[in-house]
Amino acid sequence: MHHFHYIEKELYCEEVPVSDVALEVGTPFYLYSHATLRQHFRAVDHAFDGLKHLTCFSVKANSNIAILRLFALEGGGMDIVSGGELYRSLKAGVAPNKIVYSGVGKQTEDLEYALRSDILMFNVESPLEILKLNEISGRLSRKARIAIRVNPDVDPKTHPYISTGLRENKFGIDINDALEQYTLAASLENLEISGVSCHIGSQLTQVSPFVDALGKLYGLIGELESKGIKINYLDLGGGLGITYDTEEPPHPREYAAAIKAELQTEDLTLILEPGRVIMGNGGILVTKVLYTKPTREKTFFVVDAAMNDLMRPALYDSYHMIQPVKTSDREKIKADVVGPICESSDFFAKGREMESCRQGELLAIMSAGAYGFSMASNYNSRPRACEVMVKGDRFYTIRERETFEDLIKGETIPDFL
Ligand code: LLP
Repeated sequence: MHHFHYIEKELYCEEVPVSDVALEVGTPFYLYSHATLRQHFRAVDHAFDGLKHLTCFSVKANSNIAILRLFALEGGGMDIVSGGELYRSLKAGVAPNKIVYSGVGKQTEDLEYALRSDILMFNVESPLEILKLNEISGRLSRKARIAIRVNPDVDPKTHPYISTGLRENKFGIDINDALEQYTLAASLENLEISGVSCHIGSQLTQVSPFVDALGKLYGLIGELESKGIKINYLDLGGGLGITYDTEEPPHPREYAAAIKAELQTEDLTLILEPGRVIMGNGGILVTKVLYTKPTREKTFFVVDAAMNDLMRPALYDSYHMIQPVKTSDREKIKADVVGPICESSDFFAKGREMESCRQGELLAIMSAGAYGFSMASNYNSRPRACEVMVKGDRFYTIRERETFEDLIKGETIPDFL
């Protein structure tokens, strides 16, 4: 369920006509629905009611501090992968003891920052990281709570670029080597074993890979306990998919039911790291048609958003529904919706059957709340779009559109030039 809907022929976000926002802030812009985001967060979090659990929103899906604050107010924690994400989370008012930190390449300064901030848990991903974290914790006279992120070798059956839990992937420590690494970590003075974690991939549309991974994690937890290594947290990562087109992913309720059915003990606190399932359909990217360009081959709608704003189609060939902000009764045609960037991969849709549109009209690129703005760049020296949040009948700019000055911030011309 989301709150982007038509009244008569006009697209609304909650009670605000999308075109009103465009008049105020210009295009392109990201538009998020507060009610949708809150509802999606609760759908995941409440699905696990009755179990000790912590819902850590995956900051990489959308890192705007207003969004992070919204989830923090709902009691959420954060799943971070960098010092920058930690900074954002703390600025948004997230409690450090609700933050978990994953990533294959954590840097010394970031580890120090996270240790000083006293975050809940480091999900370590390699033997060398275990040693490094122990060394840094010792230096700072701290004790780092860790989980080993294990690679359970489960096929998430999703796009290869967003699969992470297969042996061939760079993530985590092979589950078959985990016992040895836990034993090593347990012998180190400045580490405290706290959990077991995994994240097998993103945009999963079935529950079975999660259940398989959970089974493998339990196998490991059993072995650890027999060695006297006590586990408090079971971090299952994120990965639940959404409907972009015709996918029928499980509802968080079904996901939770499948997990609950497998639980072997209620002692452990479950950690979830959802990103897309909360954010994806809570945001859209609104863009204006700059030119309609019929060619001998096909029709192009050239819009003012581009792959620098939303790179998912260029990177994964992913599907995003495109809807007119004001519908017409014009005939449907097949068209390519493309951006102004000098790359053929700068497209939002190819050969898409859609209502024919005219210069100056607005289009909404749907399901853009997750991995949209957070993956945006300044390629072609395009200032990044602004972000707006709607609540009820009001809207708030939560990030201003960048300016040309922003583009050259930090650049200097050395004396010899
Ligand atoms: N936890 C960890 C350790 C992760 O690496 C990720 C996502 C998540 C949680 C959240 O996964 P989610 O619930 O959103 O599926 N840019 C890609 C997605 C990359 C996901 C990377 N890791 C896309 O646009 O589809």
